Amino acid sequence: MNPTNLADWLLQRLHGDGAMNRQLHDLLLQAVLQGQLVAGSKLPSSRWLAQELGVARNTVIDAYDNLLAQGCLLTRAGSGTYVAELDRDAPQGTGRSVATKAQAAPTLSKRGQALFAHAGVAARQWGAFMPGVPDVTEFPVRTWLRLHNRRWHEARPERLSYAPGGGLPELREALAEHLRVARSVQCTAEQIIITSGSHQAVDLAARLLTDPGDTVWLEEPCYWGLRSTLQSLSLRVQAQPVDAEGLRWPAKLKGAAPRLLLATPSHQYPLGMVMSLARRQQLLEHCRQHGSWIVEDDYDSEFRFGTRPIACLQGLDGGDRVLYVGSFSKTLFPGLRLGYLVVPKVLAAPFAKASAELYREGQLQQQATLADFIREGHLGNHVRRMRVVYGKRRECLLAAVQSSFGDQLPVLGDNAGLHLVLQLPEGTDDRRIEANAAAAGIAVRALSNYYSEQSRAGTGLLLGYACVPESQIAPAFRTLAGVLRKELS
Ligand SMILES: Cc1ncc(COP(=O)(O)O)c(C=O)c1O
Repeated sequence: MNPTNLADWLLQRLHGDGAMNRQLHDLLLQAVLQGQLVAGSKLPSSRWLAQELGVARNTVIDAYDNLLAQGCLLTRAGSGTYVAELDRDAPQGTGRSVATKAQAAPTLSKRGQALFAHAGVAARQWGAFMPGVPDVTEFPVRTWLRLHNRRWHEARPERLSYAPGGGLPELREALAEHLRVARSVQCTAEQIIITSGSHQAVDLAARLLTDPGDTVWLEEPCYWGLRSTLQSLSLRVQAQPVDAEGLRWPAKLKGAAPRLLLATPSHQYPLGMVMSLARRQQLLEHCRQHGSWIVEDDYDSEFRFGTRPIACLQGLDGGDRVLYVGSFSKTLFPGLRLGYLVVPKVLAAPFAKASAELYREGQLQQQATLADFIREGHLGNHVRRMRVVYGKRRECLLAAVQSSFGDQLPVLGDNAGLHLVLQLPEGTDDRRIEANAAAAGIAVRALSNYYSEQSRAGTGLLLGYACVPESQIAPAFRTLAGVLRKELS
């Protein structure tokens, strides 16, 4: 990273909460450990960096000093501050060890390090135009509270203990019925495993169905969060390009067939196309032939504007090769950390047992409340209401794009979901735009971040509209348009 890139990278991640010198220290340490700042590279002067970041010079000096004390940085007389060589093999407690060696890089396994290869968690999770975040302020808190209180009045000892393998039976029953009707999922309650979100569902599926070194496929581009999950399991993760019909099984296999592949057939993430029926059938056929499992990530299919939600791949398969993953992160709120995995019948018992062995889940009162919320129709009502709200916000954002750029910047993505993709001319540095937008108070995500192979990366911006009130969309987009014009001119 050159000094300008470093400053951009830091600006994107610094936030208002917590001491600035601490944040800066942690981010610089992260950049060294993840290899963005390599050994021997020179750091910008504290004066220059402070100016770029808009912080006091002492803040930068303090962060540098702390890293110097840990041996993570070193100074060369009259020349400046450099990233030190980290001794990754040094045994701990040799006396030579500095905090960095003891705390992080040398103690991280290869798969621990692989977890960070495409890390992308943003400090900021709210506001224009943060993709993937629903409007949590619209969540029907009073209804939830009423149901939750009722459950607490009748709390039984077993509800306050660990969850039985697979989760609360009442919730699994309610979900089975809901998924049959809303998403054409074919399953019984026993096939449903309650998880803390899609991340844990994918983790569980990969742990139980793959061995280290197995080949797994991801879509290119894809959601970095689930890529990180798979990458940390010592798997051979390969990215398969998508086209207008979604994921393509290659005409000729290079190497082994995948043991498992992860796909988003109903709404490709992040580009937004729908996998055609022909592709779905081909994919199922190839997977049957090669004994490959499909993990279907159905993360936001409830939100389709104008047409009915598209039936899932699991229903087409009949529940044989497909493991279906869903989440309440978009329909309710991400902090709820509840999702589900629907597995083929033969996998139901081992998966339920494994979820208890691995994660020792709890939160049964919350699960009971959610069961009531679904059974009494509140989930359906909330989704229907939010579909209208998000549909309007999407229209508003499209109008803002039109009014600033006409047809100059095409918009990708079906009429669905919580975000759209603004395509940028080839060669545009979308990451720099992301950083400059962040500095102007607007959160966007660079499309190129979602590719593992930069040579085939598209350039564009993911714009989330779900958590932005209609009245704020046009003004926020005008700010973003100012940033874009500077970059495109
Ligand atoms: C493609 C995709 N799948 C799943 C999720 C949700 O993950 P979780 O259910 O663990 O919150 C997200 C969140 O942004 C996503 O973008």
